[in-house]
Amino acid sequence: MPSVEVLRVTGGRRLSGEVRLSGAKNSVLKLMAATLLAPGTSVISNVPEILDVEIMGELLRRLGCEVAHNPEKATVTITVPERPDHRADYDLVRRMRASICVLGPLVSRVGAADVALPGGDNIGSRGLDMHVDGLRRMGADVTSEHGYLLAHSPGRLVGAETWLDFPSVGATETILMAAVLAEGTTVIDNAAREPEIVDICEMLQAMGARIDGVGTSTLTIEGVEALQPVSHATVPDRIVAGTWAVAAAITQGDITVRDARADHLSIALEKLGTAGAQVDILDDGFRVRMDRRPAAVDIVTLPYPGFPTDLQPQFIALNSVAEGAALVTENLFEARFRFVQELARLGAEVRTDGHHALVRGRSALSGAPVEATDIRAGAGLVLAGLVAEGTTTVYGVGHIDRGYAGFVPALRSIGADVVREEVSEA
Ligand code: UD1
Repeated sequence: MPSVEVLRVTGGRRLSGEVRLSGAKNSVLKLMAATLLAPGTSVISNVPEILDVEIMGELLRRLGCEVAHNPEKATVTITVPERPDHRADYDLVRRMRASICVLGPLVSRVGAADVALPGGDNIGSRGLDMHVDGLRRMGADVTSEHGYLLAHSPGRLVGAETWLDFPSVGATETILMAAVLAEGTTVIDNAAREPEIVDICEMLQAMGARIDGVGTSTLTIEGVEALQPVSHATVPDRIVAGTWAVAAAITQGDITVRDARADHLSIALEKLGTAGAQVDILDDGFRVRMDRRPAAVDIVTLPYPGFPTDLQPQFIALNSVAEGAALVTENLFEARFRFVQELARLGAEVRTDGHHALVRGRSALSGAPVEATDIRAGAGLVLAGLVAEGTTTVYGVGHIDRGYAGFVPALRSIGADVVREEVSEA
């Protein structure tokens, strides 16, 4: 009989202690793709131990790179050939939507990219129109055929004025990585400002790229003819940091998060303050303490520096046991509320209408089997399980593993009753 892994979370423990962060999933994958822009050997450090890093490594290998992952040192060393291949196959892209981030580097460096169209990771339809529009403005010919996006540029890409209808993280990255080797100047207006964008800009600058306006919504890129390989450390994962912060608040615990950037989480930490937590900013992270039932807090997800959509399920979990009612508004991914149906299995009282969710706090949740539908939903369900009476069995563990390196041991080290188990599927 086939078996699947589950997490069994038994609620009621107060979490207390220290955890250390590693690099951001949403940055490291793009940094790995960016190495394609320069022949030679680049080293990325502070790499998280997650499956997506392996998938991206495999993708780069198929493009002709040598990839060596050293988990002990948390590094990935990538040697890029003079002329990489340019095809990203469906079997990898379907496992990791972020594979699309090789599009920009390949078109600008090799003049071609055939990238399988991603299916999305269960959080709503995620278009690529702004990626395509940006590349076309720079002179690339972009079509789609048999499930592949085909981008070609007969000569060097040409810098262009571009703007985004919405500050998309992915589209900003694609255009940015295409522009660094283009001829002339590219301007990206209404660019995303996420810390992961700043991280990639800093790596590209260290490779010799000329980028102005880093961290603002207007990026100006002066194309150069060639870039050099680099060593670069991945920015800490602010979403994992925020998940720990909620873990402290929801369990009325006391967690210190090291190797974190509190300034990348300002709104989320402020919200926890409003919920009644005491938040102390430290030199290398922060500490969150809570000594009473949290108060409900309203949330509106927005592009950075707004409240991150990737912390929305965790805050719905918090609100589900809070005192009072909270209105949560999701502006980025329409299907994110699918998580709410699973949370309801634990007894949470949440009503959704379009992109709003009304959460009425309950004094207790009750453990039940639930299914993680994406990475952050999985985190939200584990958090809810930490305070539910009895045992919550979380299926879909593979999703959680994609975003949270060493999650179970870290949870256990600060007092959680969580085990990973194989169960047979009926
Ligand atoms: C990245 C993150 C994801 C995070 C999101 C928003 C990675 C691997 N993933 O996703 O965890 O939740 O940023 O912070 O870094 N859109 C279009 N057309 C486009 C591009 C985007 O319509 O050409 C729409 C999408 O459908 C979505 C919204 O814009 O509704 C946000 O997308 P975007 O900011 O691009 O997110 P991702 O880069 O996919």
